[in-house]
Amino acid sequence: MVNKQLKVVIVGTGYVGLTTGVCLAYLGHRVTCVDVNEKIISELNKGKPTIHEPGMEELMMLARNNLVFSFSLKEAMPEADIVVIAVGTPSKNNGDADISAVERVAEEIGAILNSDSPLVIVNKSTVPIGSARRVETVVKAKLERRNVECNFFVASNPEFLREGAAIRDTLYPDRIVVGFESAQAFNILGQLYNPILKQTFEPPAFIPRPAEYKCPSFIATNPTSAELIKYAANSFLAMKISFINEFAGLAERVGADIKEVAQGIGLDKRIGLDYLQAGLGWGGSCFGKDTRAISYTASQYGYKMELVQSSIDVNYRQRMVAVEKLQRALKVLRGSIIGILGLSFKPNTDDLRDAPSVDIINKLIELGARVRVFDPVAMPNFQRQYKNMAVEYCEDVITLSIDCDALVLVTEWHDFAKIDWGLISRNMRQKIIVDGRNFVKNEELEKIGFNYLGMGRF
Ligand code: UDX
Repeated sequence: MVNKQLKVVIVGTGYVGLTTGVCLAYLGHRVTCVDVNEKIISELNKGKPTIHEPGMEELMMLARNNLVFSFSLKEAMPEADIVVIAVGTPSKNNGDADISAVERVAEEIGAILNSDSPLVIVNKSTVPIGSARRVETVVKAKLERRNVECNFFVASNPEFLREGAAIRDTLYPDRIVVGFESAQAFNILGQLYNPILKQTFEPPAFIPRPAEYKCPSFIATNPTSAELIKYAANSFLAMKISFINEFAGLAERVGADIKEVAQGIGLDKRIGLDYLQAGLGWGGSCFGKDTRAISYTASQYGYKMELVQSSIDVNYRQRMVAVEKLQRALKVLRGSIIGILGLSFKPNTDDLRDAPSVDIINKLIELGARVRVFDPVAMPNFQRQYKNMAVEYCEDVITLSIDCDALVLVTEWHDFAKIDWGLISRNMRQKIIVDGRNFVKNEELEKIGFNYLGMGRF
């Protein structure tokens, strides 16, 4: 199949929407990214990404001739072949995913749609089972009220990109999943993704095609399977992390090293090495939200997702392990000064959603400790979102370490590998470090007198 240029509208310019839009424009499609937030659109129009994502600004520059940003879906939609819904689906209090933003977009599409040529509406937001049908119903109802007949199809096309590696994951995915009822939707999505499926594009120099990379599988399913695939994938990865963290707890009790255990099991191809890094557990926008949402869906059917629920429990217990280690080392936390290295839920992002740092800091403050923080990227976000949190912001690790009783490495930022530990140790009142990501070289630290406390290591 030769690459055909399609007109694509992406609604929502978060991590998923913006990455998808910019990548599709880079691949040659004509893309309009739409967001109701005028501030975001005005920044994007200046070529400034509103998320911290490696390579995004450069790719936006390369794709600029095919890329438009707008806050009007009405202006963007005429002649579109595809509208991708990539808006947020936050957790409700009961764990269910709130799809009101998706429904609002579906209503708007129904209010605007006015063409005979078929439109494919793609659900890319992570949505509860049955949402593709829900979108179809909402659009149909709106069209009926307007007494208009239009040709449209809804497809479910879950996204598997990781923040911090979003462009790489989009251009070089392992698979692309499309859930559909009409073959027409599948064909158009085949055209949309053809450059990725066949890898016909010139890779951007700053995100090269990985050596050994093989063209991705294109998986056709029914819409419900596609929706469940997303939840199952995230639950499985979350479970893998909780599994290794549960074993980390045992490893440090019996005298094993969890890094060696992870290597020893991960080299078995049936298990695999990925997502076996023990530490403070997962955070971010997906694992917590999706595991809770799928548990909630199951509960509506009177079914209990035992493994998923245990993975959630282990994950949140894991965050407190850092605090327990400090209590064992320092005995009393009241009055002690604790330095937190890293705030974002993982490196290469400024995202603080469900970040372990927040729970750990809250607990330390509750226990009477004074908390200092440093993060190379996420501090402005943290200051905005946690205005009332009584922490001291430091401009670098050296300033942070002055008079500290202990440090906790929460996020494994690359910069932390270059820390001058000799200098840091001279600044500290007591040389204690909890390495929440098993990231720094323990032998090096122990040599200069640190009490090094890793996760799942003795
Ligand atoms: C995740 C999924 O990977 C992605 O497919 C989905 O689309 C969205 O959710 P993301 O949340 O961006 O992506 O980050 P990811 O790199 O998967 O890490 C999630 C969390 O797990 C991070 O907090 C990370 O620190 C933690 N993690 C990851 C571990 O604790 N151990 C590991 O071995 C791997």
